Amino acid sequence: MHGRRDACVPSLAHVLLVAAALMIPFAAAQPWQACDSQSGNYSAGSTYADNLLRLVSILRANASNSPALFASGSAGAGADAVYGLVLCRGDVSASDCFDCGTRAAEDVQRVCNRTRDAALVYNQCYVRFAAADFLASPDNTGMVPLISGTSIPSGVDAVAYVGAVARLLNATARYAAENSVPSSPLPRLYFATGQLVGLDPRVPNIWSMAQCAGDLSPAQCLRCLDDLVMLWWKSGSLPNGEGARLAGSRCNLRSELGDKFYTGTPMVKLQMNGDAAVPSPSTDVVPATVGGQYYSSTPD
Ligand SMILES: *[C@@H]1O[C@H](CO)[C@@H](O)[C@H](O)[C@H]1NC(C)=O
Ligand SMILES: *[C@@H]1O[C@H](CO)[C@@H](O)[C@H](O)[C@H]1NC(C)=O
Ligand SMILES: *[C@@H]1O[C@H](CO)[C@@H](O)[C@H](O)[C@H]1NC(C)=O
Ligand SMILES: *[C@@H]1O[C@H](CO)[C@@H](O)[C@H](O)[C@H]1NC(C)=O
Repeated sequence: MHGRRDACVPSLAHVLLVAAALMIPFAAAQPWQACDSQSGNYSAGSTYADNLLRLVSILRANASNSPALFASGSAGAGADAVYGLVLCRGDVSASDCFDCGTRAAEDVQRVCNRTRDAALVYNQCYVRFAAADFLASPDNTGMVPLISGTSIPSGVDAVAYVGAVARLLNATARYAAENSVPSSPLPRLYFATGQLVGLDPRVPNIWSMAQCAGDLSPAQCLRCLDDLVMLWWKSGSLPNGEGARLAGSRCNLRSELGDKFYTGTPMVKLQMNGDAAVPSPSTDVVPATVGGQYYSSTPD
């Protein structure tokens, strides 16, 4: 599992600045992608392209109809077979999930220049399509690493910040793996959101999210997220960013300062003094422009 996963993680040193200080519009900022040029390419209007578009449209419908907001499957056969997965963020509505699939269908050929293996990340969903059957394994391939273009405010203790994010991500990952809905059968919604308060007045809140693909077992989900937490700290450029995301085809993690990027009450709430705080009801909405703050990984 480890070797194959690592081979698919683009180096974080290769992240490319695409965003300016101004919030850029939602539609212009997304998606972020990982396009595997080793996977070969296909022509517009080919059987592979037709199968791909047919599969996106089925998975879009199936994911948005599923309480797990997840669907995977294949279309076509032989050399033209396409394998795909759609995982919508666990708190989005069925219609937002469907719309995210629609955008993926519109974007996938252009954004990845028709490479066969294409992973796209939006604020509302992760999608991946490939000629290889990546669904057969629980490995978290198709990784799209994103790091915020903005550093933490000056004066904030970076070591304390990194430690706080680590504690929050660990707790969020564990909650996601251990509280799937329903507890059986598959697919399950593995989704958790978190908040850490009290690090520093300049950093009033750290927000987090963890999610797994609905076809994993709880143990596979936990292992997948543990691997991501470790990868998060291995990549030297991540810690001082205001936020980062590691999104793969089996699980994803996200942490942010500033605005809460998910809807609803945090499922995990931590305080700097080590006490668990009781989550308070919240009516915040998802800021649509959060993605504008990101660096994007380059396809290479
Ligand atoms: C695939 O990409 C290569 C290199 O860019 C190009 O020469 C070739 O025409 C492409 N093939 C198709 C089917 O688009
Ligand atoms: C999509 O859902 C339909 C209806 O439940 C099911 O028959 C079909 O197998 C699903 N397809 C995929 C690719 O998941
Ligand atoms: C996209 O693919 C075409 C051929 O299919 C090739 O000519 C072009 O250089 C590619 N563009 C990029 C950005 O890779
Ligand atoms: C987070 O989890 C990892 C792996 O389970 C562990 O090694 C690490 O010590 C944890 N970090 C914190 C801050 O809890």
